[in-house]
Amino acid sequence: MQDNYLNVTFITYVKKEDVPVDVDNIVLIATKEQADRYGFQKSLAQKIDLAFLENKMVVISTLGDKQNIIVVTPDREKEVLRLAGASVYASLDKLQIRTARLRGMNELTEEERYAFLEGMILSSYDFDKYKAKKKVNTIKVHISRRSFLEDKITALTMLTEAGSLTKTLVNEPANYMDALQFSEVVTQTGRQFGFETEILHKAQIEELKMGGLLAVNKGSEVPPTFNIFHYKPENAVNEKPLVLVGKGVMFDTGGYSLKISGSMLTMKCDMAGGAAVLGTIAAIAGNRLPYYIIGLVPATDNKISANALVVDDVITMMDGTTVEVQNTDAEGRLVLADALTYAKRFDPELVIDLATLTGASAAITGSFGIAVLGNNQAKIDELKEVGEQVYERLLQLPLWKEYKDLLKSTVADMSNLGGPIGGVSTSSIFLQHFTDYPWIHLDIAGAASVKEAKGYRQSGATAVPVRLLYEFIKKKCKND
Ligand code: BES
Ligand code: ZN
Ligand code: ZN
Repeated sequence: MQDNYLNVTFITYVKKEDVPVDVDNIVLIATKEQADRYGFQKSLAQKIDLAFLENKMVVISTLGDKQNIIVVTPDREKEVLRLAGASVYASLDKLQIRTARLRGMNELTEEERYAFLEGMILSSYDFDKYKAKKKVNTIKVHISRRSFLEDKITALTMLTEAGSLTKTLVNEPANYMDALQFSEVVTQTGRQFGFETEILHKAQIEELKMGGLLAVNKGSEVPPTFNIFHYKPENAVNEKPLVLVGKGVMFDTGGYSLKISGSMLTMKCDMAGGAAVLGTIAAIAGNRLPYYIIGLVPATDNKISANALVVDDVITMMDGTTVEVQNTDAEGRLVLADALTYAKRFDPELVIDLATLTGASAAITGSFGIAVLGNNQAKIDELKEVGEQVYERLLQLPLWKEYKDLLKSTVADMSNLGGPIGGVSTSSIFLQHFTDYPWIHLDIAGAASVKEAKGYRQSGATAVPVRLLYEFIKKKCKND
């Protein structure tokens, strides 16, 4: 777990002479005038002209005495620049270039420049742990201090490393990453990035009467853990903590309501919420942001044995609510409910939970976004705005009171199953029952893990919504 699998390092220079002489160049062209100034030879100039005509980002590699990678970005949306960075990384990788100098940055705004670097470094993640053939060399990219600040590069690298940790945790198969192994990583990560961790084991979980977490864990040979992270810097701008809660289902078989016809595939990703809580706090602590945050991750797998939970069972949650289990595959809400109850003791300013909670959410957003629901519109709006910036976009769904009726049980206070419609809303209404504070729920089932690599995303884990939460908190440090 030590390896962050990032294959790009940025090296800042002051004078051109400080860069090794024969390095290859990455030249970013953002305006037509800039292209004209370079005076490219005809066929290249024509390609660049065409890019401006079609308003399309292109990457062209040219072979001369030095290799040049020309990247043309007529459209300077931040996301286009991230994608440009990703395309350039792909070219460097393909051409086996190991050292390059980045040029042409002064035409861009500060935000645009960092977006380009972000795209490069994000796309350099590669989970090759279980492959014989590994990437050995990192690519060194020399960047001028006239365009980039050392501190900001360090912060960007730290954020990306923390995101890589999230990706790796999700990509690790369940036979290498169970609840106990997850907790070991938690402890290590706290030491490495500078925050406190506390792991509650089964006896303590029983003492706390976390009936949801214990019920889901009944079918497992590995005991559950309840992972707590504290980051409280002395200069924190907030008094009451922001609490992040993440679903930590290490593998979801569905339990006795077994996942069928291939839907069990990829279910190692069902702890992506928990991994993202860890990654976010690592990034915040690593960069010493002055914000008081607590993280909570209930961890277990959802498996079958003679002792496993069955449908019709009635369980008692930590807050005393009784729940009729009508579907053992709706386990996420059971483990989260106890964590949401536990969050009450911190008198939080806001609780955000992140979970690969429903297939219904994935069906709505695809891999392109996150479903958001909650009881505080102002805070949801803030988060939505940041979502557009980092391109981890949010789609809000309702928490209409009528959905509550769908969770009625004839034998208990509530059922864990809402029926065939409004699956995202009913799952959230279930969670809402356990909150008494400002609260936002993010259903990341669509975006947490993707099948196909695209842009700066690899196949597998995406670390969504680590960048979203990091920027949200960073913005709060400035505002508060
Ligand atoms: N872990 C799944 C949700 C999921 C589906 C995550 C696809 C990622 C991709 C969750 O535990 C689940 O199985 N939910 C059920 C709930 C239903 C039984 C109410 C679902 O969505 O089918
Ligand atoms: Zn499930
Ligand atoms: Zn699940």
